[in-house]
Amino acid sequence: MTLSPARYHTALVVLHWLLAGLLIVALFIGTFVLTTVPNSSPAKIDALRGHMVAGGLILVLTLVRLIVRLKTSHPAPATTGNALLDRLAPATHWALYLLVLLMAGSGIAMSVLAGLPGIVFGGVGTLPVNFDALPPRAVHGIVAKLLMLFIALHIAAALYHQFVRRDGLLRRMGFGPR
Ligand code: HEM
Ligand code: HEM
Repeated sequence: MTLSPARYHTALVVLHWLLAGLLIVALFIGTFVLTTVPNSSPAKIDALRGHMVAGGLILVLTLVRLIVRLKTSHPAPATTGNALLDRLAPATHWALYLLVLLMAGSGIAMSVLAGLPGIVFGGVGTLPVNFDALPPRAVHGIVAKLLMLFIALHIAAALYHQFVRRDGLLRRMGFGPR
């Protein structure tokens, strides 16, 4: 293995694209489906069950990804041609991990405070009218918007590298020999 490979480790590439898909779907369904079904609807339990399982899976895969990221070598830092942007890039990558962990943490905290594990998976008890009184509910909503913003910036940066600077950045997160 060279000190500075041309690509990220294959396990990291698989996890990057799998998590990108899962996160975009979870953010979309959370915003446009989950919050529009009232807690009084029988459909809410099923929607919450799917969301909680997907959120738990995202948490586990993100932790695995973090470990793989810390234990494998990665390509030398890419350059944008601007010293400040080059310093910001790694910080935004760590921020993406942090925001995903905050999403999962606040979701779990909200669900525990509302007794959701028993209600959703054990059929014990009933849902509250809504989750608005629980502090982690506000955190979950705000962090969701921040995560969307960071993902949009991240995609814009990747496309800028690929199509404006034409430095082949996407290949670094692609499959092939390292
Ligand atoms: C949707 C959620 C996404 C998240 C949370 C995410 C997160 C990350 C993170 C944390 C890294 C740094 C490498 C690492 O430490 O794992 C990274 C790298 C990268 N991502 Fe994403 N990503 C997402 C979606 C996308 C999409 C849609 C694209 C393509 C348009 C993309 C293109 C890239 C590229 C090219 C790299 C390598 C950057 C480099 O070599 O410095 N990502 N991503
Ligand atoms: C880690 C990835 C996760 C993502 C991307 C995600 C995304 C979202 C989004 C976008 C919303 C709507 C927020 C709003 O518009 O204010 C939401 C709501 C919610 N999420 Fe998550 N979530 C995740 C994990 C979890 C976990 C692990 C749980 C519980 C174990 C959970 C439980 C909930 C609950 C109870 C709501 C409120 C639904 C309502 O107010 O009707 N989430 N989530």
